[in-house]
Amino acid sequence: MFCSPTYKQNSNVLGREKVKIPINALVATMYVRNVTITDIKKESTGIYTLFFDHSFKFVPGQYVMVWIRGVDEIPMSLSYANGITVRVVGDATAALCDLGAGDTLGIRGPYGNGFKSTQPPTLLVAGGVGAAPLASYADAFQASVMTILGARTKDELLFVKRFKDAGPLLTATDDGSAGHAGSVVDLLRHVRGYNEILCCGPEKMMYAVLQDALARSIPSQFSLHRYVKCGIGLCGACCIDESGLRTCVDGPVFTETQLSGGEFGTYMRDASGRKREL
Ligand SMILES: Cc1cc2nc3c(=O)[nH]c(=O)nc-3n(C[C@H](O)[C@H](O)[C@H](O)COP(=O)(O)OP(=O)(O)OC[C@H]3O[C@@H](n4cnc5c(N)ncnc54)[C@H](O)[C@@H]3O)c2cc1C
Ligand code: FES
Repeated sequence: MFCSPTYKQNSNVLGREKVKIPINALVATMYVRNVTITDIKKESTGIYTLFFDHSFKFVPGQYVMVWIRGVDEIPMSLSYANGITVRVVGDATAALCDLGAGDTLGIRGPYGNGFKSTQPPTLLVAGGVGAAPLASYADAFQASVMTILGARTKDELLFVKRFKDAGPLLTATDDGSAGHAGSVVDLLRHVRGYNEILCCGPEKMMYAVLQDALARSIPSQFSLHRYVKCGIGLCGACCIDESGLRTCVDGPVFTETQLSGGEFGTYMRDASGRKREL
């Protein structure tokens, strides 16, 4: 398949239209970089940041495909140019966080579009491990951001110093152990002085932020988690109803207009493509 220097035409044996695939671009896109883990930091119970011996050039909000050899390959946002922050939820994330300094991983990417500020000042709304892509945004755009950061409990509030260094910070916890007792959405009403919202977190939370943003006509962007397999727009696993937009290449960051009226906030598809209520 990768024999032609520039293009190879698919055969027409099935009577389908011929498609030109830019082979060189595809090969470059699929390149797997071997990285060595230099350090692992425990952020909280079940949440770890893994640092690599390589820094990636990326736009905050982009993700990489992380190959844990012998286990699985999974998508992870870059929380640093040389790091990812992982919540243990299943086999692959547990195996990833069991690794130590000196172990190696295969990394493809960075992939996807990332957040793009159009009219600062910007309000960042982060929930749980959704703080990972927004913390790198805060690092890059200090002085033009304010943040609402939420988690289940105080210990799970991620990257508090990074967000504080970038601008005003409000926090919310489900159990009331820090900041407002309740959701980040409750705090939205109390914050003024921003022109746009960038958001990442549990989808129900993001859906509530979307409703608030739409009601007040505030431009907003949301980083979506869908089942990502190939990461390069070929397999269709990550498509969103009704638009058909692919999370892996058209996203993972989408605008309020792209997400309105579709599956966002109601369901996603599992590994086999079956609908799963959120
Ligand atoms: C663009 C993007 C960025 C992400 N960034 C982060 C991050 O920074 N930190 C973090 O902790 N998690 C992140 N995730 C989620 C992470 O990929 C999943 O938690 C992980 O794949 C779970 O794998 P598992 O084998 O441990 O769990 P499993 O038991 O296999 O699955 C647990 C749940 O994780 C989700 N999941 C499983 N496999 C995938 C997959 N290939 N693609 C997407 N979701 C999957 C499903 O909802 C599933 O129900 C991101 C997902 C996407 C799509
Ligand atoms: S994961 Fe294959 S098209 Fe998006």
